[in-house]
Amino acid sequence: MERQFKVFRYDPESSKKPYFQTYTVDVQKSWTILDALNAIKWEQDGSLSYRRSCRHGICGSCAMKINGKNELACELQVFTLKGVIKVEPLPGFEVLRDLVTDMDRFFGHIEAVKPWLIAGLSPTDKERLQSPEDRKKLDGLYECILCGACTSSCPSYWSNDDFLGPAALLKAARYCFDTRDEGFHERMDVLNSRNGLWRCHTIFNCVEACPKDLNPTEAIVRLRARLAAEKI
Ligand code: FES
Repeated sequence: MERQFKVFRYDPESSKKPYFQTYTVDVQKSWTILDALNAIKWEQDGSLSYRRSCRHGICGSCAMKINGKNELACELQVFTLKGVIKVEPLPGFEVLRDLVTDMDRFFGHIEAVKPWLIAGLSPTDKERLQSPEDRKKLDGLYECILCGACTSSCPSYWSNDDFLGPAALLKAARYCFDTRDEGFHERMDVLNSRNGLWRCHTIFNCVEACPKDLNPTEAIVRLRARLAAEKI
């Protein structure tokens, strides 16, 4: 079946302004948007640039805006969409080329919240074990694949890209609510700053955008509540 794809194009080395290019692709019933982009690149236009790796919704590299919504191209099936399919880079990030955006600032914010267990305050020569009940408390926090769909959909981030953004705050929650972690106060330098937790205006776009059905807004609210409870 033939389908049309209207794809955002931008070449920083050309004097041409960004534009949309339409491709017609003979798609199979089981194809995802990534399959269609691969068909364009491999059979029609090798200059088209986009990121992809795992093809299974794990690596997070293929996030892009498809028909107005942030999605994983490797998970979204072509047959679920009607008419011409519009494919654009993630909004809110600088476009480097076609569908490829600059993710340096995004990963810088993830790093800023210290996404690792801080557990050296009470030295032990034993393994730090966690009960199944305590492990369960991390459900909904640990599954993030760092695709950037949530941060890219956040109006607070659009107006201020120094804001840590929902992905980094969700990552902070994953460690702050780990019963083995002792780094809550250490992370507060960043989380309780003007570009941290309080920049979120609970708009919930991030919840809508997350391809893994996570809830960064809820994680942010829980971190704020803990901060208030501990009177930091
Ligand atoms: S290619 Fe890895 S998530 Fe899509």
